[in-house]
Amino acid sequence: MTDNFPQTLPASWYCGAAQFAREEKAIFAQNWSVLARADQLSKPGNYVAGQIARRPVFVIRGEDGTLRGFHNVCRHRAGPLFDPGAGRCNLSYGVRCRYHGWTFDANGALLKAPGFETNGGFRPEDHGLFPVRVEEWNGLLFGCLDAEAPALLSWLGDIPAIAEEFPKASEMRYYREVVAEGEANWKAYGDNSVEGYHLPFVHSQLNQATLKIELEPHENGKFVGFRIAYGPWGNHPPSRGYWIYKFPCLLLHFSEYDFNLEQIYPLSPRKIRLVHWFWRPDDTTPQGDYDEFTEGWQKTMAEDMEICAAVQQNLEVGAYERGVLSPEKEPGTIFFQKLLGEALADAAG
Ligand code: FES
Ligand SMILES: [Fe+2]
Repeated sequence: MTDNFPQTLPASWYCGAAQFAREEKAIFAQNWSVLARADQLSKPGNYVAGQIARRPVFVIRGEDGTLRGFHNVCRHRAGPLFDPGAGRCNLSYGVRCRYHGWTFDANGALLKAPGFETNGGFRPEDHGLFPVRVEEWNGLLFGCLDAEAPALLSWLGDIPAIAEEFPKASEMRYYREVVAEGEANWKAYGDNSVEGYHLPFVHSQLNQATLKIELEPHENGKFVGFRIAYGPWGNHPPSRGYWIYKFPCLLLHFSEYDFNLEQIYPLSPRKIRLVHWFWRPDDTTPQGDYDEFTEGWQKTMAEDMEICAAVQQNLEVGAYERGVLSPEKEPGTIFFQKLLGEALADAAG
């Protein structure tokens, strides 16, 4: 290289099982991820089964009102307790494994293990469910696999203070979910989500609606923030907002009227799932036509996925090894790649 511009990550980091396994261990398994909405867990017995770093987990509200998280894996022969999704179980029967019917309480303690009652040596307390940390913020339930990770609020850093400027999700109405899958490495999607350089070329509609974007990398909470002002977008009224890409895999979009978030699930080195949840204001707030608004977001997501999948193919075929980043146009991507390098270096110790 003859210039002084920062280099991109090597193409090989976007490909292959070895790098993905390294990231799964050093990054996804050590950070918090959104597991559920508080409204899904309002009553004792309500549960949501999902995944963190591809490990099936669930969160459940006990009779005492406390939310607890567990690996969704039975201690007998690794059967699942719940199918993915939300529901309510009758806690007077307990949480029953789907494979051979071992039953646990909402604290994860083993209650019944048919066939093991008569064996004097069997100790139920040695066979309880493996716990997963859960904490709540802004009407959202987060889970974390790592006992050593910081508490949720310190992980969020400056985000709660920024969120104070906008209506709370817990005061809005949950509106809908949009799920999409794409053929790209999660970092290709991350690199793209933290810069506005591509807007005029990839998102003509969003670009027209966007009046102003100021990008702010935050060390406290490890996220890229975009202070944004936009004019009418579909039937959505003009608004100011704050968009966040929280390392590693969470996007939060606050505005004066509504809130939405997107969680990225890295499924393989070249596949991601995006789960996008939308909240709308209560009926007293001007809100435009929300279907059109969420379709606008879907279009934006599809445009991003399409360009990221094309980039992914090019990264895989070997003609390109590393490129350059513009500190003027791509400070968010430079920051994202720095966070990634630090997370891997920390884990390597
Ligand atoms: S695997 Fe759960 S009861 Fe057998
Ligand atoms: Fe985009």
